Amino acid sequence: MSLDIVILAAGQGTRMRSALPKVLHPVAGNSMLGHVIHSARQLQPQGIHVVIGHGAEQVRERLAADDLNFVMQDKQLGTGHAVAQALPAITADTVLVLYGDVPLIEVETLQRLLAKVNDKQLGLLTVTLQDPTGYGRIVRDGEGQVTAIVEHKDASEAQKAITEGNTGILALPAARLADWMGRLSNNNAQGEYYLTDVIAMAVADGLVVATEQPHDAMEVQGANDRRQLSELERHYQLREGRRLMAQGVTLRDPARFDVRGEVTVGRDVLIDINVILEGKVVIEDDVQIGPNCVIKDSTLRKGAIIKANTHLDGAVMGEGSDAGPFARLRPGSVLEAKAHVGNFVELKNAHLGEGAKAGHLAYLGDAEIGARTNIGAGTITCNYDGANKFKTVMGDDVFIGSNNSLVAPVEIKAGATTAAGSTITKAVEPGDLAVARARQENISGWKRPEKIKKS
Ligand code: UD1
Ligand code: CA
Repeated sequence: MSLDIVILAAGQGTRMRSALPKVLHPVAGNSMLGHVIHSARQLQPQGIHVVIGHGAEQVRERLAADDLNFVMQDKQLGTGHAVAQALPAITADTVLVLYGDVPLIEVETLQRLLAKVNDKQLGLLTVTLQDPTGYGRIVRDGEGQVTAIVEHKDASEAQKAITEGNTGILALPAARLADWMGRLSNNNAQGEYYLTDVIAMAVADGLVVATEQPHDAMEVQGANDRRQLSELERHYQLREGRRLMAQGVTLRDPARFDVRGEVTVGRDVLIDINVILEGKVVIEDDVQIGPNCVIKDSTLRKGAIIKANTHLDGAVMGEGSDAGPFARLRPGSVLEAKAHVGNFVELKNAHLGEGAKAGHLAYLGDAEIGARTNIGAGTITCNYDGANKFKTVMGDDVFIGSNNSLVAPVEIKAGATTAAGSTITKAVEPGDLAVARARQENISGWKRPEKIKKS
């Protein structure tokens, strides 16, 4: 079976009250349309056709990719009209229709639906709802066979009592599509060309309409306003939280946990409240993450500990290393095994060797730091002269005293020591002590100035 997928994304989304086209509004850090495209790709179709209209340029710009065919629908004359715009580009034998504002649809559900389609049958995804107001209703005959979909606004009172609603998602044999599209009319309550009218046409042509339902009604829930968007967000997060818990992660509170990307986890991982994981995050066994941490595009090796309020972006934390509370590891930060970074330490493009320590209040940028080296509190690498960046290199077992300014480019070689308060501008040879500060002078019998009396 070859497959073409049509994603409808031309609608305005007035109720979002936003300059951003509706389908670009994010769920879990990715646009709603981005989620739908991600699911579509997993079905390995020969074409993905995205029907755009409102905010078309923004949508195209944001999501452009080689495997996407954007189709313009200048006027939104209805879902049937939207699919018809994609018709010339369809070459496969099956067409699946998805919606750019229905982001949580599961690939497994779509596979079940697609399994129903052949040249004698189409697949329709329906959902039974307590309150189906607004949905097209699935009309069945005495034998339970689907005969039509009636839109809410066109339905009789008896039809409105039907609780089985149309999700909009359907899969049909492409060979019939051109004929059915050609026969659509807009003679209905909304004056639109309804895609749903193809159901009655298919039945009249002797086809069977086979239905499937999603396991979870939220899969087919669209977002028309920001309240619905927030419901989709929480649902996505709960689903993601459950997936991680099933793999051996303890979440202190799944309702206070957010994933905005792709996370892989090991076993016996502990994640405290208000943690946000963004982009690609790899978490190995026995990692512990404290409360209020933001971790983006980072790798946490076995047993790493991230303490409260720590921010990681593009960092690698080695086995048994620890960071925080209140540490910031920026892109290119690498901690080797058992390295330690304490409170109010900022790292950028800095490599800390095994067991190296920066316990408090430091900025280490563009730095290569050897094993077991200890960085005193208040130390900074002066890596930037206002125009260019330079590197600071420290060997193994170096001891940097408190409150040092290390003016790059500079090298402090293995086993060297620098005195507290030093401004280091020259290389320090192995084992040497560098003292680079004014010597202390004491003046005995010093008289403090006295206040001058006003006459
Ligand atoms: C549609 C279905 C209804 C179903 C409901 C589920 C039809 C006629 N009705 O109704 O049976 O229960 O979805 O939510 O199909 N769109 C376009 N171009 C258009 C019109 C719509 O791209 O010209 C897109 C919209 O952006 C939206 C989707 O199609 O993503 C659905 O359109 P909408 O007008 O919201 O359909 P409903 O009236 O809700
Ligand atoms: Ca409509």
